[in-house]
Amino acid sequence: MISRESLPDTGSTLYSRILENIDRAVIAFDQEGCITLFNPAAEALMERSSRQMAGQHYEALFKDQETLLYLVKVALNESRSITDDEGLYLHRANASPLPVNAYAAPIYTNRGDQDGAVMIIRDLSRIKELEGTLRRADRLSILGTLAAGLAHEIKNPLGGIKGAAQLLAMELRKENSLLDYTQIMVKEVDRINFIIEELMELGNPRTPEFAEVDLAKILDDIVLLQREAARNQNTKFTLRFDPSIPPVRGDESLLIRLFLNLIKNAREAIAHDGEVTIETRIASSYHMTGPGRRSSPMVDITIRDTGCGIAAEEMERIFTPYFTTKIKGSGLGLAISQKIIEDHNGLLKVESTPDEGTTMTVSLPLRR
Ligand SMILES: Nc1ncnc2c1ncn2[C@@H]1O[C@H](COP(=O)(O)OP(=O)(O)OP(=O)(O)O)[C@@H](O)[C@H]1O
Ligand SMILES: [Mg+2]
Repeated sequence: MISRESLPDTGSTLYSRILENIDRAVIAFDQEGCITLFNPAAEALMERSSRQMAGQHYEALFKDQETLLYLVKVALNESRSITDDEGLYLHRANASPLPVNAYAAPIYTNRGDQDGAVMIIRDLSRIKELEGTLRRADRLSILGTLAAGLAHEIKNPLGGIKGAAQLLAMELRKENSLLDYTQIMVKEVDRINFIIEELMELGNPRTPEFAEVDLAKILDDIVLLQREAARNQNTKFTLRFDPSIPPVRGDESLLIRLFLNLIKNAREAIAHDGEVTIETRIASSYHMTGPGRRSSPMVDITIRDTGCGIAAEEMERIFTPYFTTKIKGSGLGLAISQKIIEDHNGLLKVESTPDEGTTMTVSLPLRR
């Protein structure tokens, strides 16, 4: 961090330690707008070293980023404190834009003269993910309840149709060509029934039964079957498991369903010649898993595919029950997955680039 020496003598080590450890980017400028301080969180956020940045002008640092330029300008030239909390993104050279909020304020000397400005930037990406999870969960619970009620009503007449088709089959002679139609009727009724049962569970799921679950084992088993299903597709499955991950507490059959949905989606996104990579690792930071909950160490399970990707305008809709772009899809896979993750106090992050592929990261708490 630059400029440690220029801090006041009294308590200077305490000040610099705070600046070194705080998780907000703190950047100070002199009255000409040149950088005098760039703390480690700023280095991480901007992906630049403090040595690189020392003495650089803020207009170079925030090139083409109007809001950030404006904030520093107001603090420096109008001596006002100013905050921007609304939809601000930090653009960086080799990384994706980061949702942030930013605060800028003038710095005064003991004599009351202005001597530059300070800007504090906070990374909101984790909070945004959490909000996304909660928003999707909300929508799901309303839709789930409504649809499950409707599904219940549909199930009874369906039973009648199936029974009638079976009776009809019995009445028809063996060689009668109409027999084929009755078989189709029974098969299709069974298919609707299956979808409806899935939906009813979404609205009124069984209580998860928690036990210790070996993630590597269930992922191995799922991939074994998916490899088989992808035989004609030339899809490579790569597994990279961190062996130090302890068993997580979860409902094994629900977790199998979750990862099966995600890995199946990854496989289905690849028309031919692609790769699905499944990786587990302990997350580098603690996550808050919900409002009012304690933050906990997490394990990240990443499922990455080199498939068709998801268009930006479809990103929010993929979690809506029945949203599907597949001919034979039910569109319930991700809605159910989202619910399972929520039951495990987990988080789901989706990153996707059309024509390049999709990465789904499930984060599960290691401690409950
Ligand atoms: N890995 C992925 N790559 C590209 N698109 C995806 C991926 N995962 C999900 N999607 C999109 O999200 C939609 C919804 O997925 P979801 O799993 O809920 O339903 P589905 O896969 O269509 O049907 P089902 O899961 O019942 O077979 C998919 O139809 C697809 O358009
Ligand atoms: Mg699916």
